Order: sequence, then structure tokens, then C-alpha cells
Amino acid sequence: MAAVAQTALRHVPDKVESDFAHDVVAGLSARPKRLSPKYFYDELGAQLFEEITQLPEYYPTRCELSILENNAAEMAQLVPPDAALIEFGSGSTRKARILLDAAPAITAYVPVDISSEMLQQEAAELRRDYPRLSVLPVEADFTKPFQLPDDIALRPRVGFFPGSTIGNFEPHAAAAFLSHAASMLGAQSTLIIGFDLVKDVHVLNAAYNDAAGVTARFNLNLLTRINRELGANFDLGAFCHQAFYNAERRRIEMHLASRTRQKVKITGRSFEFRAGETIHTESSYKYTPESFGAMARGSGWTPVASWTDPQRNFMVQALSRQG
Ligand code: AVI
Repeated sequence: MAAVAQTALRHVPDKVESDFAHDVVAGLSARPKRLSPKYFYDELGAQLFEEITQLPEYYPTRCELSILENNAAEMAQLVPPDAALIEFGSGSTRKARILLDAAPAITAYVPVDISSEMLQQEAAELRRDYPRLSVLPVEADFTKPFQLPDDIALRPRVGFFPGSTIGNFEPHAAAAFLSHAASMLGAQSTLIIGFDLVKDVHVLNAAYNDAAGVTARFNLNLLTRINRELGANFDLGAFCHQAFYNAERRRIEMHLASRTRQKVKITGRSFEFRAGETIHTESSYKYTPESFGAMARGSGWTPVASWTDPQRNFMVQALSRQG
């Protein structure tokens, strides 16, 4: 399964069909028009995201994997004996496996994901590959409160949130997530988290405007999905992908721009677009080590270690909760 998609943002159609219709109508009624990036990840969207992670211009996934591989032994030193590793939005467990291999002190693994199919499949593979590890999947939207398994009640906890998924949260939601993780993981816990760094604007713009046009297809697939699932009549040729770095807000913005003045029908309602008007489909926030550290501090965490790649493209920080 093309499951490396950022599962935090993945959407399960049969469960929240009406949420999708509601969010699309609300987002296209707003000014400026917007749609949530969580709806990118239908089956094709997940596959396209997997393709994005392998594009020459899209450095984040490659950089994070190399940071984890090169520094896992040091990260393992932060793991207390008999610890539980709790991964928020686990999806594919490729990155967690790097930590599991380096840190035998992790004796329980709790992948938290909204997709039950993916969770069960990954859990079965992990049980086969790590027979001594207790694998305790939790099906939940990790951005909301959820129950951790009773079996880990007495274990020290290490949270894991790779993929710079936190970058797709608005800053207030990112801070709220960190506070929520702090209270879920409890006193003395650690959180290992990956985020993308502020850098040369050309590198950023190229990563979201790849020459092969995969990111454009990923963005436009949102309209295909609305057509299919909500019976809308978006003309895909009448919209184009736009992505640019907004330096003031330190974020890449992705939009779908209307090439002409037009009307689109969705669930019996009509939405007008001016020529050039856009739907804002995603923000991908970039942080400095300091700005991320400040947000973490404000959310109950203390940064204790950080690792980056030689180009300083991406960063993994370890945050600790003392007290
Ligand atoms: C999932 N997320 C961290 C990606 C990002 O870079 O913000 C999503 C993405 N959008 C376009 N390319 C990749």
C-alpha cells in the first residue's frame, strides 16, 4: 500500500463522508477559498505523495531518513529501559524501525493511526520482524484526545512524530498538538519530532514545483476527489497548481488557481470563481531551530538534543518533559 502518506492528514471516506461535504462547502464559501490538506490522501493522493517523497527536488523525506539513520544510536541513549514508543500518525513504520533497531530498550510500540487497515497490516509485519516487541496499535485521530493502552501504564514513554507533519498544522494547532502530546505522554517523557527548516527560497520553491509535475497532480487530485465523492463538476483543465514560499509567514503555500471566470456545482450548490482566484489547499510551515524550540517550550517541553543533515535542510529534535 502506498502508505507512507502522512497519516495524520489521511482521511477515511466511509467514516467522515459528511464531514468531507461539509468542509468542502464551508471552505469554498470562505474568503479566501480554502480546502483542508487532510483530504489530499485518498488512494491516488497517497500514491502521489509517495512519489513526491522520491522526487529529486523534494528533500525532506530523504534528509529525515538520513538524520535518523546517522543518529539513531544517540537517540537511543535518550530511551529509558522498558520504554514504550508511541508514534503519532504511524502510517508506514519505516522510520520507527530505525529507532527500534537502535534502541533495544524499547519493548512496546504503540502506532496511532486513523486507518485501521494500515495499522493492522503494519502491526502484523512488525510482530513478525520483532517477536520480542509488544505491538499495541491504537486506531484514533491523534490530534484529539485518545486512550493509550493499559499495558503501557507503567512504562516510560517516548513519543515519535516524524515527517514534518507538524508543518502542515497552523502554528496555533502545532502548539496545541505539542501540549496535548505533553499531557498524553506524561511526566519524564521524551518526544522525538521532525520538522523542515527555513532555507534558500529557491530550494523551497523547487521542492513544491517539481519538474515532473507530480506535486501539481497531487494538488489537482483534490478536485478529482471532490468530483468523484461529492458529484461536483470541476473542470481540471480550468485550474492550475501554484506553490510559493511566503517568507513573512515562513510557509510554502499551495493553491489551485482558476484560469478563467467560472462556476462549479457541488452538492447542488454553485460556487463562482474569478479568473486568477485561488483555493488555498495547504500550508507547509518551515521553522528555525530556535523558533521550533520556543514553540516547544511554550507547550511544556524542553529541547534536549537536535540533529540535522549536512545542508541543514531538515531537523529532528528531542524534547523532554521534566516534572
Ligand atoms: C506531508 N507534508 C509534510 C508534506 C509537506 O511537505 O508539507 C506534504 C506535501 N505537499 C506537497 N508536497 C508535499
